[in-house]
Amino acid sequence: MQIKKIRIKNLTSDYSILIGNNILNTIPKKINKLCPQAKKIAIVLDKKVPSKFKKKLKKILEKYEVYTFEFVTSEKLKSFTNVNRLAEKLLSKNFNRSDILIAVGGGILGDFSAFVASIVKRGINFINIPTTLLSQVDSSIGGKTGVNSSFGKNLIGTFYEPKLVISDVSFLKSLPKREIVCGYAEILKHSLIVKNNFFRWLKINSKEMLEKRNQNILTSAIYKSCKVKVFFVNKDFREKGLRMTLNFGHTFAHAIEAKNKFSKKINHGEAVLIGMMLATKLSYIKRICTKKTLEDLKDIYIKNNINYDWNKFFTKRDKNKIVDFMNNDKKNNDKKINLILLKNIGKTTKPGEYKFTNQQLKNTLIKIN
Ligand SMILES: NC(=O)c1ccc[n+]([C@@H]2O[C@H](COP(=O)([O-])OP(=O)(O)OC[C@H]3O[C@@H](n4cnc5c(N)ncnc54)[C@H](O)[C@@H]3O)[C@@H](O)[C@H]2O)c1
Repeated sequence: MQIKKIRIKNLTSDYSILIGNNILNTIPKKINKLCPQAKKIAIVLDKKVPSKFKKKLKKILEKYEVYTFEFVTSEKLKSFTNVNRLAEKLLSKNFNRSDILIAVGGGILGDFSAFVASIVKRGINFINIPTTLLSQVDSSIGGKTGVNSSFGKNLIGTFYEPKLVISDVSFLKSLPKREIVCGYAEILKHSLIVKNNFFRWLKINSKEMLEKRNQNILTSAIYKSCKVKVFFVNKDFREKGLRMTLNFGHTFAHAIEAKNKFSKKINHGEAVLIGMMLATKLSYIKRICTKKTLEDLKDIYIKNNINYDWNKFFTKRDKNKIVDFMNNDKKNNDKKINLILLKNIGKTTKPGEYKFTNQQLKNTLIKIN
């Protein structure tokens, strides 16, 4: 069992991400070291995670007083009402700061559980076991917790770091293909925003990863991807500037999702994949990147059968609506739409460098076929 390890060390935290295949057995030893006073453990589980993992966790943690809480996940789980319910349950069992909440699920379950962990008794120990590719490469890193509000997604939350993240690729066997593609969108993004040959590696290995779910390739892709996210988070934990680079393709994506009323017709990852291509086409029109860069990116989409064309889904009127939604993005700090664009593979524009008025963007996007 080979385990890859990434240590996250910044002003507020110091913890590790462990990545590998069948690595849950490492947990008891880690807990002994990281939370030596713990007596109680709440395992908060996504109901779609195969039950063998629940059994295994209960077995390896049998020396603790373990409580399990299972949830069917949807964005509706990320609500104050549900947070309050789980918090009250933990309080009724007398959980205190030295005890542990372990989240076992995708980004929804992770965001929700981490928020609960951050507010019960002003913060109990939190361990994250992400079980989707997206949560392994994205949402489990960076300390953002949160729930939704009637005003929008993820508008209420805290920054709260886990004591440990365990990304076990064996969870990915049961994940639907569409969810694998969702995680792949973030992996591709990470390969585009830092110069380190990751994109070239991904070009060679994507098919094996997406179609065969090769465990070694998945482990390496998660490791390389996490390293990129950690780089940005460590430089800018509170998201004051540089971390916004991670938003590449996402301003388009959020607006596409909002225009579709967050229906499953286009899921988040699919919207990010379309968004990254739109941002790159825009970069080409604005002469920020060359045709070669655009073609290089297109090639990886085509070879892996990934859709990038928003014309399949949207009319001209819809596209204008999407731009209107882009105006509401919480990363805009004035009336203009702040976009991260691509200079070349491995280099983006700086946050705040390119801003468009609503009309400018509508006029330019008309030119994109
Ligand atoms: N905190 C952050 O920094 C951050 C970053 C990105 C996204 N997010 C949040 O993450 C959420 C999306 O996360 P996600 O893409 O993981 O979606 P998700 O949590 O909805 O999981 C996707 C689907 O997979 C199922 N599932 C989970 N693990 C499984 C497994 N091992 N086998 C089979 N099915 C499984 C879930 O039940 C769900 O149906 C959004 O709420 C988003 O806002 C947070």
